[in-house]
Amino acid sequence: MSTSITAVRGRQIWDSRGRPTVETEVTLAGGGVGRACAPAGASRGAHEAVDLRDGGARFGGFGVDGAVAAVNGEIARLLNGRDVRDQAALDQALREADGTATFARLGANATVSVSLALLHAAASQAGLPLWAYLAQGRPVRMPVPEVQIFGGGAHAGRRTDVQDFMVMAPRAGSVRRALEISADVYRAAGELMAARAPLAGVADEGGWWPMFDSNEDALQVLTRSIEKAGYRPGEEVFISLDVAANELLCDGRYRLGLDGAELSSAEMVETVANWVRRYPILSVEDPVAQDDFDGMTLATTRFGEAVQLIGDDLLVTNAERVRRAAAAGAGNAVLVKVNQAGTVTAAKAALDAAKDLGWAAIVSARSGETEDVSIAHLAVGWDAGQIKVGSFTRSERMAKWNELLRIEEAMGDDARFAGASAFAPTVAAALG
Ligand code: PGA
Ligand code: ZN
Repeated sequence: MSTSITAVRGRQIWDSRGRPTVETEVTLAGGGVGRACAPAGASRGAHEAVDLRDGGARFGGFGVDGAVAAVNGEIARLLNGRDVRDQAALDQALREADGTATFARLGANATVSVSLALLHAAASQAGLPLWAYLAQGRPVRMPVPEVQIFGGGAHAGRRTDVQDFMVMAPRAGSVRRALEISADVYRAAGELMAARAPLAGVADEGGWWPMFDSNEDALQVLTRSIEKAGYRPGEEVFISLDVAANELLCDGRYRLGLDGAELSSAEMVETVANWVRRYPILSVEDPVAQDDFDGMTLATTRFGEAVQLIGDDLLVTNAERVRRAAAAGAGNAVLVKVNQAGTVTAAKAALDAAKDLGWAAIVSARSGETEDVSIAHLAVGWDAGQIKVGSFTRSERMAKWNELLRIEEAMGDDARFAGASAFAPTVAAALG
């Protein structure tokens, strides 16, 4: 059978932080080939699937010899001869073979690269681009991009407490136009930063290195950047934040080092609510920590009607946690990172759970990335509505944006930008 798996081959490659990561290549009897690389997070949630790292002194402990060996040994033996089209069954076989809840034994870096490579191989054998293979003829929307302008938190030596200062242009009408707008804002922000102090390079995801007196200072400069680029903040271009508040938690209090503040969960929510009131903020990710469902519920009650509230470390691309959060009114959107779930099928389940509940979904990269462009295809093919890749420099980021442009062009007249429909109903209604 042409869709039988004939080879699964893992190798060590290098990610955008210069750390080892896993790449897997899957070959089929019919000649189809799929290849995928594992990304790696820096601000990881405690409940996400875990990478297998060698530890020790070599490569700072980040070695992946064990994970590569798992791909070439146990996983290859498990998958060889099986039908690549049974993605769910193959992913389940990986889960059962691993035997832990978090892929701790084989490593999520091994399983995510294998799972994605299987998907690519299946699409290749079907003679379709991955997004079209996933869409299966159903109409799908082009996702609204979230583009980082300043990187902070764990991605920039904690020079700001908030991790991502991003922009979104949901009224742009196309990915192509949304990216042009983002490029304008990115450039304007660089000029404003250069006027304040010599530029100090970029953070892990390519955003300008943050040099601010307070977290609010960054919000002010970002708003001015939007204006300087010639756009109306809160109409054409909105701010999106990833607070990544899990990283701020210290002895049960949220510590905003830059603002000299130590806050309770309710005070943290109030701080973010103030930002939302004073700046053109459309979306906030992880305003509270990974187990603070109560704080997320409070945030949702305070400002979740008109503002997107995304769970990342809170939900870790886990369908069960999405359902729990929805039942508690804790948020209205889920960030979808395949490597948090460990397999394509588990990640898709989290996305489907969100959609069933009327939540929004954002397919996301990690802070450690490669040239792999799978997430551009997943965001389109799964009809996610939104995509978060990082900033507008560094080729591991641009590769994804550029792939979206190719997909949009290939769709031709069928290309439809998700726009306001990408958000949960009340947020979409507020956007108009
Ligand atoms: P990470 O950051 O990849 O370092 O976890 C991305 C995010 O928090 O969204
Ligand atoms: Zn996040």
